[in-house]
Amino acid sequence: MLKDQDRIFTNLYGMYDRSLKGAMSRGAWDGTKDIMAKGRDWIVSEMKTSGLRGRGGAGFPTGLKWSFMPKESDGRPSYLVVNADESEPGTCKDREIMRHDPHTLIEGCLIASFAMNANACYIYLRGEYIREREALQAAIDEAYDAGLVGKNAAKSGWDFDIYLHHGAGAYICGEETALLESLEGRKGMPRMKPPFPAGAGLYGCPTTVNNVESIAVVPTILRRGGAWFAGFGRPNNAGTKLFAISGHVNNPCVVEEAMSISFEELIEKHCGGIRGGWDNLLAVIPGGSSVPVVRGEHMRDAVMDFDYLRNELQSGLGTAAVIVMDKQTDIIKAIWRLSAFYKHESCGQCTPCREGTGWMMRVMDRLVRGEAEVEEIDMLLDVTKQVEGHTICALGDAAAWPVQGLIRNFRDVIEDRIKDQKAGRTSALAAE
Ligand code: NAI
Ligand code: SF4
Repeated sequence: MLKDQDRIFTNLYGMYDRSLKGAMSRGAWDGTKDIMAKGRDWIVSEMKTSGLRGRGGAGFPTGLKWSFMPKESDGRPSYLVVNADESEPGTCKDREIMRHDPHTLIEGCLIASFAMNANACYIYLRGEYIREREALQAAIDEAYDAGLVGKNAAKSGWDFDIYLHHGAGAYICGEETALLESLEGRKGMPRMKPPFPAGAGLYGCPTTVNNVESIAVVPTILRRGGAWFAGFGRPNNAGTKLFAISGHVNNPCVVEEAMSISFEELIEKHCGGIRGGWDNLLAVIPGGSSVPVVRGEHMRDAVMDFDYLRNELQSGLGTAAVIVMDKQTDIIKAIWRLSAFYKHESCGQCTPCREGTGWMMRVMDRLVRGEAEVEEIDMLLDVTKQVEGHTICALGDAAAWPVQGLIRNFRDVIEDRIKDQKAGRTSALAAE
């Protein structure tokens, strides 16, 4: 299990100085040049050995993704783009890194860019992240002044520039190709994939888009070895991970833990337990708003990793934003709120998403009030299936899955609400 000295993010909540001096005292920028001297193939190979799966939500293997980048330039420059557009409801882990450990990210950007033959990196930052922009820009300026980035970065012989781009607050710009469109100065609308960014990304050039946490763990993985990182968690679910736990726990927090920790241990060790005790647990969304909600009684023994949550509970680890809801929660209303969110954030480019998100929200609206027929539950499920898998980007799936999770796990609650409404016994919660 993870011990204190194994933690990668040692400055969560800003207990220590985040400046270059403070970061160096905690090990940042130590031997960066030596790591780069081991060469691109070694770096990519260590990343594969580490088993790191992308921390932005999809869990695609990071080393494999890097290996898609061309080894030799065909005349086009290559780019690293860091996705710092952290907007998934419940998710605030990258915020902690950028606010309090920005040098970990910048050092990771240099090493990752070098490994992918990229002389430039863009960090695309969520529009609402003002303090994070200030912290990151200050750290970038310090790194330039100290010769850690720029020409002959960290005395490695590699020229490297890093740019911070502040988004305007659109959730869809977190989708990697919408992000690239936005970075190029256009409206943030997802592109069809393939081609994947490694083939044609920013300005049509080979590009890798990686999440903040994925890049910020790179220096530590390479210093301590891929096998060290792979020693945490279970096969195919390796490493340490930031979990952002919110909702009805006694102490909501962002913590770094070993992958595959049990849900109960995560909550007891770091959050002071469930508000009102375990018997009061109603439901959990274990991985940010895009993954299906799970009934509380199925979560207590859950293993918090990609494979367990998907295979055993038909949900997902996603961004590891753990949203806990106790029995005071109107679960239909909670999911309705997500439906409203996805309808608002749909870019409108493809019909199933543009129309389907509106349909789902309107039916959910009636279910909250119990003003629907029981048959409409299956009709709603059918609408989610028309949206799922039929859209350009994952937002369509993300809108469908929470509703599917609600129907799968809480059909009884929906039916009771409809029956109560018909019998004139409107639920106090629904009437709020
Ligand atoms: P995806 O599975 O389509 O792709 C994941 C990554 O792997 C991408 O970088 C993609 O380019 C790459 N990839 C996949 N197949 C590839 C192939 N055959 N060849 C080359 N590269 C390939 O998932 P996507 O749409 O990037 O992400 C969806 C996830 O994002 C959701 O599961 C959700 O959890 C998460 N999300 C996170 C947010 C946040 O704030 N962190 C916001 C919204 C969603
Ligand atoms: Fe836009 Fe939705 Fe289509 Fe994604 S799925 S491209 S958000 S309309």
